[in-house]
Amino acid sequence: MLYWAMVLLTGQLASTDVQEQLSLSAASSSFSQNLYQKLSAKESTIVYSPFSIHLALTMMLLGAREDTATEMETTLGISSLGDSVHTVYRELIQQLTYVNRIKIHIGNSLYVSSDYQISPKFIEDSTNDYSAKTSSIDFSANGGAETLINDYIAAQTENRIQHFLQPETQSRDTILVLVNTVLFRGAWQNVFSRSVVEDHCSRSSTKKQDFKQASGAVIQVNMMHNTEKNIRFKRDVAHGVDVVVLPFQGKRFCLYIVLPHKLDGITDLEYLLAQPSKVEGLFSGLSLHLVDLAIPKFRTETALTLKTPLQEMGMVKAFSRMEANFTGLSHIAQVHIGQVLHRAVIDLQEMGNMASTTSFVAVVGEGKDQLYKPKTASFIADHPFVYFLRDNVTGQILFQGKFSG
Ligand SMILES: *[C@@H]1O[C@H](CO)[C@@H](O)[C@H](O)[C@H]1NC(C)=O
Ligand SMILES: *[C@@H]1O[C@H](CO)[C@@H](O)[C@H](O)[C@H]1NC(C)=O
Repeated sequence: MLYWAMVLLTGQLASTDVQEQLSLSAASSSFSQNLYQKLSAKESTIVYSPFSIHLALTMMLLGAREDTATEMETTLGISSLGDSVHTVYRELIQQLTYVNRIKIHIGNSLYVSSDYQISPKFIEDSTNDYSAKTSSIDFSANGGAETLINDYIAAQTENRIQHFLQPETQSRDTILVLVNTVLFRGAWQNVFSRSVVEDHCSRSSTKKQDFKQASGAVIQVNMMHNTEKNIRFKRDVAHGVDVVVLPFQGKRFCLYIVLPHKLDGITDLEYLLAQPSKVEGLFSGLSLHLVDLAIPKFRTETALTLKTPLQEMGMVKAFSRMEANFTGLSHIAQVHIGQVLHRAVIDLQEMGNMASTTSFVAVVGEGKDQLYKPKTASFIADHPFVYFLRDNVTGQILFQGKFSG
């Protein structure tokens, strides 16, 4: 609501821009679900940032031509947006940089081989639309390029992602490296209690509890607890899942956790995610409930090599030495994408990093009495589930993952 009010008052964005933002997030979300299908089969626990991957590839599109570009647009789901997709990204990046009470830092960098000429137009467009910083680098220097890029990534992510590139991963043939980093740091609107005494032995209500893996095995995880009267929740009987929303301070960003009713329901849930148009439905129709929440406290880190999944998703020519057309990047040599690497880390804790400022107060303004149902629902995430860290305004999924213990 606030967003629409801002639009009307300031006139910064015309309504077509809002439509384009929504088209972009729908494209990015479909892309994310298609990618999830490729990745989740191999991994029981995973996290990645669809936003980051989609953004980086769309930036590469600035240099792609003909079939190479068409395939990329199709895979990214952005054919209908045409060239305006870059403007939409520019506005999105600007918007996300100034979100109240949340730290989001988006960094785009281009490392260009010092003995190679990249099209000035490509550099100019990446700078204008993606705020990309360009530096020249000697990829053939012994160990030099990796260290420099790794140091940059570590600095951009507050050291959460270190040693990203193995030594000697960049070859003499590398002419350009595009690095996108996204840092998100938020405190929960409603923190998980550390001091409420539920069992009288413990000062903290986070405690070891059973988690039933899909295989049937039972392991112990640290389970965080919270009982709140105004948590957005729904029981979706048709799809056999419960959905709960944990807002971060400011309420614009939320973590949506989708928990199957059946202990081994993750497979059915993944089947649902394979129909990207159904995913948006998971995020709607929630109402305020008194919810007895139990969510594992966890840290997940995933390193992914995306060339094969992207090829399987239809982006073939971009990786082909013979067929790629990146003449928008360079006229001098035949260039193609060698590899797409991705690493993401999520660290779910009772407070987030901003420990002391969080309270329950802000949710009250949202509370519509007629929605309030005093019956307690329980949401005990003690078996595999899927989650989405999502912008409630644009619909962008910043992070998506699966936790299986
Ligand atoms: C690449 O695309 C450009 C622009 O459409 C075209 O002029 C050029 O011939 C293409 N190159 C190859 C090798 O297909
Ligand atoms: C955001 O969340 C609120 C509930 O917290 C919901 O009513 C609203 O429709 C959501 N979407 C937007 C664009 O604000």
